[in-house]
Amino acid sequence: MEINKIMVIGSGTMGSGIAQVMAETGYQVILNDIKQEFLDKAIEKIAKQLDRDIQKERKTEEDKTAILERFTLSTDYADAKDVQLVIEAATENKTIKLDIFRKLDEITPAETILASNTSSLSVTEIANATKRPDRVIGMHFFNPVPVMKLVEVNRALTTSQETAEAIFDLTKKIGKVGIDVKDSPGFAVNRILIPMINEAIYTVYEGVASAEEVDEAMKLGANHPMGPIALADYIGLDVCLAIMEVLYEGFSDSKYRPCPLLKKYVEAGRLGKKTGQGFYSYK
Ligand code: CAA
Repeated sequence: MEINKIMVIGSGTMGSGIAQVMAETGYQVILNDIKQEFLDKAIEKIAKQLDRDIQKERKTEEDKTAILERFTLSTDYADAKDVQLVIEAATENKTIKLDIFRKLDEITPAETILASNTSSLSVTEIANATKRPDRVIGMHFFNPVPVMKLVEVNRALTTSQETAEAIFDLTKKIGKVGIDVKDSPGFAVNRILIPMINEAIYTVYEGVASAEEVDEAMKLGANHPMGPIALADYIGLDVCLAIMEVLYEGFSDSKYRPCPLLKKYVEAGRLGKKTGQGFYSYK
């Protein structure tokens, strides 16, 4: 089956980035969200990114027009009736995701692949909410999607080899590199990255070094493009905490205990860049 039409569910940071990359590659993209205003904002953001590419002479006005023409905006899952692939990038909430997959399973053709951008939920459980668990898979992108080269191809226990191959093929076509990962708490990247961030927060919490010093240390001492505390603010402290909790529960191992300071920031609503305040201020 050839993929040419894709629905992306969720037009937030991840969904809009995924949709942009797909449209830039030449796919017809139906961008879906619950409200038209979210979609309008996402398209505006994508158009701005394309303008930046034009300024930098990486794209032309014609490219921009062609890319934007590949988009259809949708607030109805029924619009997925003739797509070959759905990539769900809705909010990281199990009940919401399971509900979306149940609905998609009823609407889309039997051969359509249903992929989730989940960063921490069980793909196997999501697959099991459908009658096509062999055609459900994780396709995990990284923020900012247009820049980050990796796609974690997270196979559910039930994912068929044919489905995994189709997703690896697509990953290559969009100019990214796929890694083959089995369904497991935090998959590969977040299992390594988020405990590192949690440890950085512990380093601040225990007064070993300030947030600025920890970030400077990891930028200059380990060549990270962004320090771990700044990265935590960038990812969202609520997202970091949720992933730590999945690791803590999933492995029943105290080494994944979320730092109390991380919890306090989330309780205070200081979620990072998106709220204007995390470990750093963005106001
Ligand atoms: N969208 C598109 N392009 C963007 C962008 C965005 N949101 N943000 C930055 N860029 C581009 C810029 O246009 C620029 O490209 P050019 O130089 O070709 O014009 C390039 O990225 C570098 O940007 P900047 O010069 O502004 O800033 P920088 O050099 O500090 O890079 C960064 C910014 C790419 C974000 C870099 O700091 C970085 O790689 N940080 C780490 C990001 C990371 O680890 N992400 C993964 C988070 S984990 C996750 O996403 C998954 C999860 O489940 C939690």
